[in-house]
Amino acid sequence: MQYESSALLYVALLVGGILFLSRWAKERKLNAITPAIGPWMPILSCWGALKFLFRAQAILEEGYVEYGGRPYRIAMLYEWHYIVSSPEAIDELQRAPEDVLSFMAVAEENLQLAETLGSAVTTNTYHIPVLRTTLTRNLRKLHEDIYDEICNSIAHCIPATDDWTPVVALDALLQIVARTSGRIILGLPFCRNTELLDIMINFTTDVVTSGLVFSFTPSPLKPLVKPFITKVDKMIDRALAMLRPTIEQRQNMMEKQKHGEEWADKPNDILQWLMDAAEGEEREPRALTVRFLLVCFASIHTTSMTLTQALYRLAANPEYIAPLREEVESVLDQDGLSKATMEKLRKVDSFFKETQRIDGLGCLLLTRKALRDYTLADGTRVPAGCYVSTTPSATHRARACYDAPHAFDPWRFARMREEPAQSGRHQIVTPSAEHLAFGLGHHSCPGRYFAAVELKTIMAHLVMKYDFRLENLKLGEIPPPMHISNIVVPNRTAKVLFRKRKD
Ligand code: HEM
Ligand SMILES: *[C@@H]1O[C@H](CO)[C@@H](O)[C@H](O)[C@H]1NC(C)=O
Ligand SMILES: *[C@@H]1O[C@H](CO)[C@@H](O)[C@H](O)[C@H]1NC(C)=O
Repeated sequence: MQYESSALLYVALLVGGILFLSRWAKERKLNAITPAIGPWMPILSCWGALKFLFRAQAILEEGYVEYGGRPYRIAMLYEWHYIVSSPEAIDELQRAPEDVLSFMAVAEENLQLAETLGSAVTTNTYHIPVLRTTLTRNLRKLHEDIYDEICNSIAHCIPATDDWTPVVALDALLQIVARTSGRIILGLPFCRNTELLDIMINFTTDVVTSGLVFSFTPSPLKPLVKPFITKVDKMIDRALAMLRPTIEQRQNMMEKQKHGEEWADKPNDILQWLMDAAEGEEREPRALTVRFLLVCFASIHTTSMTLTQALYRLAANPEYIAPLREEVESVLDQDGLSKATMEKLRKVDSFFKETQRIDGLGCLLLTRKALRDYTLADGTRVPAGCYVSTTPSATHRARACYDAPHAFDPWRFARMREEPAQSGRHQIVTPSAEHLAFGLGHHSCPGRYFAAVELKTIMAHLVMKYDFRLENLKLGEIPPPMHISNIVVPNRTAKVLFRKRKD
């Protein structure tokens, strides 16, 4: 017995030692090419990876300062070879073909989408042109609905009384955005159905946390542990139960339309465009429900977190409210806020763009996974399986791109548009190497025109109807955000005080 256990210990030490040495050799070789920030040795790098979970932004700033914009590596808990490229490589990252530096492989691997939503969502991305083209083209026509839902949901979520009322900002804005997006995704009355709204909102968190747990689970065990790890299947089923009658009814009408019947009040919403574009198995009600939830996943938290960040900036600096009001009032049409009015709101646009620049939602952007060995133009080797990324510390907040890069200057982009021949540029929806909040190039966010209209309309309505300020905070100071690995989440519990506008 004694003998057996010491033999086992011996074997374990030997195997461990060999693994350590082989990894050490590999890491050392990589380190000679691209230096690591923090401990690069195996096991020790775990410490760096743990630190990254909580202090990503500080570590990336440090890397930027230490290497002066040259590439460096960071340790991640599971992915050891994570290269933060130099800003000069941005163009290559956005341009490289999908089979070399892959966008989908990152989504697939980080979120473990095959386990939760099924692999169809990454192999057949027919929803992207629906969003990029059909949604964007319809925004003018749909703006009245968007505005109607914004008025309704804001009245529902934020009391307009004469006394200051504290409101948990992120919760309220999450509801408002979910209802407004819901109105465009599948229309009334679904967008006000509280059970469905709960699913639309919670789905994202559940996919992300399930993905995290799955990524630590060895592949053969995944099907076994799946029922214990994730509620995603149950959520899809519940959403399907609610949507099925509508989907089948619409399918019925589509069939009749094919045979020449008129469909006068054909819905004009994302679900219908998806149904029109879907082929083969994607036409099944369950597949359509998954696609619907995927659109919720991409649109609701991204937009509401951006809105919360901007609201914190505004509530912490009430002196910015008057210029925004002035601008909104100066462009208001007689018939309220139209899409055309939205395009004239340069200060509101600039305010959101500056919020994205300073606060942002991620401290690693344009992340791609190398599917084969690849060498960037500056000589950085990206071995197959490695991740390569860029950080806003080196662009959004770098002196090379902006004057006074660390100052929050809400009218920065509006001023740039006053220059001759620049009026159409520097908008929030125009990605550039200096502004990557919506990505860049081939995979740039297809929903950004919709997001921009939604953000600007909500803010315009809020400043016109309400006064607001922050509870117990010093002027100019926003409630501290939370950092989870490379994700920046605006403070989830902070309250903003609202009252009916006085002046
Ligand atoms: C303020 C809100 C939003 C932000 C900050 C945001 C940001 C982003 C970013 C950074 C990417 C990835 C770009 C890359 O890595 O190259 C992306 C992709 C995407 N976004 Fe957005 N987004 C927002 C709103 C929306 C909305 C409202 C929708 C849908 C209506 C949407 C749908 C998508 C989709 C489907 C993709 C994947 C694109 C692809 O696979 O090529 N997003 N978004
Ligand atoms: C959604 O999440 C919230 C907060 O975590 C929870 O209170 C609520 O019950 C959840 N709803 C559903 C339908 O899962
Ligand atoms: C959120 O802000 C409040 C102040 O409003 C603060 O007490 C709390 O610690 C912040 N949360 C985080 C995660 O920093």
